[in-house]
Amino acid sequence: MAEENTVATEQAVADREAAPATAGAAAPDDVVLEASGLTKHFAVRKRGRDLLTGTKRSVRAVDDVDLVLRRGRVTALVGESGSGKSTVARLLAQLYPRTGGDIRLHGKSVTVKGGKAFRAYCRQVQMIFQDPFASLNPVHTVRYHLTRALKIHDRAGEDVEQALHDLLTRVQLTPPERYVDKFPHELSGGQRQRVAIARALGADPEALLADEPVSMLDVSIRLGVLNLLRDLKERLHLAILYITHDIASARYFADDTLVMYAGRMVEGGDSETVTQSPAHPYTRLLIESAPDPDRLDPGTGKEPGEVPEEKGAGEPPSLIAPPSGCRFHPRCPAAMQRCETDLPPRFEVDDSPGHWAACWLYDSAVTP
Ligand SMILES: Nc1ncnc2c1ncn2[C@@H]1O[C@H](COP(=O)(O)OP(=O)(O)O)[C@@H](O)[C@H]1O
Ligand SMILES: [Mg+2]
Repeated sequence: MAEENTVATEQAVADREAAPATAGAAAPDDVVLEASGLTKHFAVRKRGRDLLTGTKRSVRAVDDVDLVLRRGRVTALVGESGSGKSTVARLLAQLYPRTGGDIRLHGKSVTVKGGKAFRAYCRQVQMIFQDPFASLNPVHTVRYHLTRALKIHDRAGEDVEQALHDLLTRVQLTPPERYVDKFPHELSGGQRQRVAIARALGADPEALLADEPVSMLDVSIRLGVLNLLRDLKERLHLAILYITHDIASARYFADDTLVMYAGRMVEGGDSETVTQSPAHPYTRLLIESAPDPDRLDPGTGKEPGEVPEEKGAGEPPSLIAPPSGCRFHPRCPAAMQRCETDLPPRFEVDDSPGHWAACWLYDSAVTP
């Protein structure tokens, strides 16, 4: 029985690795995970005054978000800190109950709250967190972490030593014998993040949700970890959500890019188009003001020598009482009157198929 399972899993892995060679057989565009109207409002603890007036306050962290993750593609989700990116990832991982919207795995709506259904879901959708220090238990070795992942996902019937060897090789921690009995503190940040990735792969997932996977790593090793993720995407045909505040890395690493501002998606399209010809004023601001966050002046948050823009230079709004209309309008250099009152839907931008912006500037019904 266990034997059969092993064979089946190995066959599945072999099929997936062979997929690129038989391009026609496995469509690379398969949708793995899809969200529509995804919404999360966190309740805020009531103050005395709210109790009296009966007001319910909430943080509107994510509102009406649509996204699609496809096999063998990296989708970047870009935005400033506090824009709701991690909340989207946690909703997709079913770590939070959602306020509204739908999540579909291979076209089937899923809502899981724990237990067996949650484990089955996790087997297909794995998350990688920002902090590889916090995500590994300091009292356990690499072997323990990876073996546990294999067990949780019912892969302990396989030859465990072989499986550990394969996982470590896959994340380029070679020779595996050098790493398998190490404790987290004996590894560098980059090596730890590779162990965290290996642990995620232990579930043999189809989708990886990587929440700022390199932002806590030294600049010099970020590229290596991103290249590893790209390699996994190509070899295992994973669907990857790559969350980042660094739009430059999205261009380098992601096939598609989505831009989020204050809990809402504002622009999307292929990464080249979104980063080279940004349509939404917020995306333009992101690109102008932070092409590389490592070069920003910590005092001003701007690149040295950059002229601060009057309006764009503001702060993201409170999500307890977000601005009406377009949430970016108070900071937008192109804001028109209707932006203050009317929420812009997605408009197609003509320059490239699939490029859209939620901005009234692209409303073709109005001639500018
Ligand atoms: N568990 C929570 N309870 C209340 N508010 C939260 C919670 N998690 C996140 N938030 C709020 O939701 C907003 C979005 O947060 P987050 O998704 O972490 O953004 P990002 O990852 O883009 O920095 C922030 O205003 C944050 O304070
Ligand atoms: Mg975050």
